[in-house]
Amino acid sequence: MPTHFIRVTHARRVSLCAVAVLCLLWLAISCQTPTKPAAEQPHPWWQHAVFYEIYPRSFADSNNNGIGDLNGIASKLDYLKDLGVDAIWITPCFPSPQVDFGYDVSDYENIDPMYGTLADFDHLEKEASQRGIHIILDFVINHTSDQHPWFLDSRSSRTSAHRDWYIWRDGKAPGQPPNNWLSTFGGSAWQYDPKTKQYYYHYFYPQQPDLNWRNPAVKDAMFDVTRFWYKRGVSGFRLDAVDTLFEDPNLHDNPVLPGKDAYGDPIEENKYNDNLPEVHDVLRDLRKVADQYSAVLIGETWTDNIAELNRYYGDHNDELQLPMDFLFTMVNKLSPAEFRKRIAEVNSASGWPTFVISNHDIVRSYDRYGDGVHNDQIAKLMAGLYLTLRGTPIMYYGEEIGMKTTPPTRREDVKDPIGRRGWPKEKGRDGERTPMQWDDSVNAGFSQAKPWLPVPPTYKTHNVADELKDPSSVLSFYKKVLALRHSNEALLDGDYIPLNENDQNVLSYLRSYESEAVLIALNMSGTGQKTTFDLSSHGFSSARALIETGNSTANGNTVTLEPYGVFIGELTK
Ligand code: NOJ
Repeated sequence: MPTHFIRVTHARRVSLCAVAVLCLLWLAISCQTPTKPAAEQPHPWWQHAVFYEIYPRSFADSNNNGIGDLNGIASKLDYLKDLGVDAIWITPCFPSPQVDFGYDVSDYENIDPMYGTLADFDHLEKEASQRGIHIILDFVINHTSDQHPWFLDSRSSRTSAHRDWYIWRDGKAPGQPPNNWLSTFGGSAWQYDPKTKQYYYHYFYPQQPDLNWRNPAVKDAMFDVTRFWYKRGVSGFRLDAVDTLFEDPNLHDNPVLPGKDAYGDPIEENKYNDNLPEVHDVLRDLRKVADQYSAVLIGETWTDNIAELNRYYGDHNDELQLPMDFLFTMVNKLSPAEFRKRIAEVNSASGWPTFVISNHDIVRSYDRYGDGVHNDQIAKLMAGLYLTLRGTPIMYYGEEIGMKTTPPTRREDVKDPIGRRGWPKEKGRDGERTPMQWDDSVNAGFSQAKPWLPVPPTYKTHNVADELKDPSSVLSFYKKVLALRHSNEALLDGDYIPLNENDQNVLSYLRSYESEAVLIALNMSGTGQKTTFDLSSHGFSSARALIETGNSTANGNTVTLEPYGVFIGELTK
């Protein structure tokens, strides 16, 4: 045998041995440290968290004055933990004249006495963090209250220190506002102030003057507000009305479109006072501050399409981590095709998806999708959807028990000013802000005093105490799905793979992660459905139920769904 061959063979043997040793080593290591569960993989905490929005006036009233408060929230933390909530977003609880129920802030660094004190906030924060629950505050960044000391000074004279903190302009002509811009809450967006004989700009109520974000002093002061709360343990902010931070400095008139709105005003395209590019400079800088505290920024971002949404993530993912995608809230019927389209769009976005189906400004999902007969079943169907998608869900208090939107029936009972102005076309937002239904006792266990808004009659049938005892309740369903979501790698991190895309009744998809997959099948129709899936093309042969409603079942690769039924199952080879 030629020597060179022996040498080569020997070398090959040596390298084969080395490979074998390495393989054994790898096997030994990988047996000792199995693939980490997805929840332990390096994801920022907010990607795997379930967020829950609390409207503090309506959640729990600890001092029995008819209005909820921070101690009330603290008393319900165990409930939230048990439900599967990881972060609570509390809508504004800062000192405020309450014209817009807190969205008119008169002091950004304190708590309104109606809700408690800073000490109560610290107590809530401590209790929440002991349970692993993060606190997110609402940052009303576009405007202040007209009672904020900055505005009081601003309006005091044309030369005051804070004059340029807001947007003041001369009228076009005597008695005429500077341009045609309208407030989204009705009427002109300009308010004449006789003291200094100029108009100030307000995108919302006249009591909510817009800050002038072109003034660096405004930026510095507002950024300091975020630092104040980060240092107190807050894990991030939901940024209110970010779309409208900037206006065209030349005040061009907005184009007028045909028709009138609920207030009888002309309809305008907000070309010059909405979605201006300058907002992204502010968001990038705000994110830099947030990053110093590992905080998350959620945006109230009303975008018309994914390109606009992408801009809020930032070109380098350096703006908002969770710009809220409201596209779901605009699908008002149970249409698999519509949802499929929206989900595909969100999945194509450049950042981590956020799913919202209800909040304090829109009719509850219970009524938007409910048919009046199967509402509880449909509430479970919607939970089966937004809690099993790839992304961060933001729940709204009461959705988990099937709370119903209950608007006032008489104009004189309306609390939300837009409801009084727009009645009867616009009844305001009282209907989706009613007190949380804790039990079937007087005032639904929310308060011993008369609540600020009436408790819907449904509290007798839909309340936390009763639903906790009933395994088939909406609440029990939410708890099951949330528990699964927290422990199942495919639901946490798996890819979204749409199935049977032409099915007009059943919305179905896989969440697939490494060798595991979960099948979700949601019957969006009022008739029973039998659906067969080509599971073998994904490497599986059958589905085993993890969570299902009523008589929904799987047999091999066929799922039978009751009307509005849900099937969530693990796939097996
Ligand atoms: C959006 C908030 O969600 C809404 O409730 C409020 O009225 C406006 N921003 C103005 O702050």
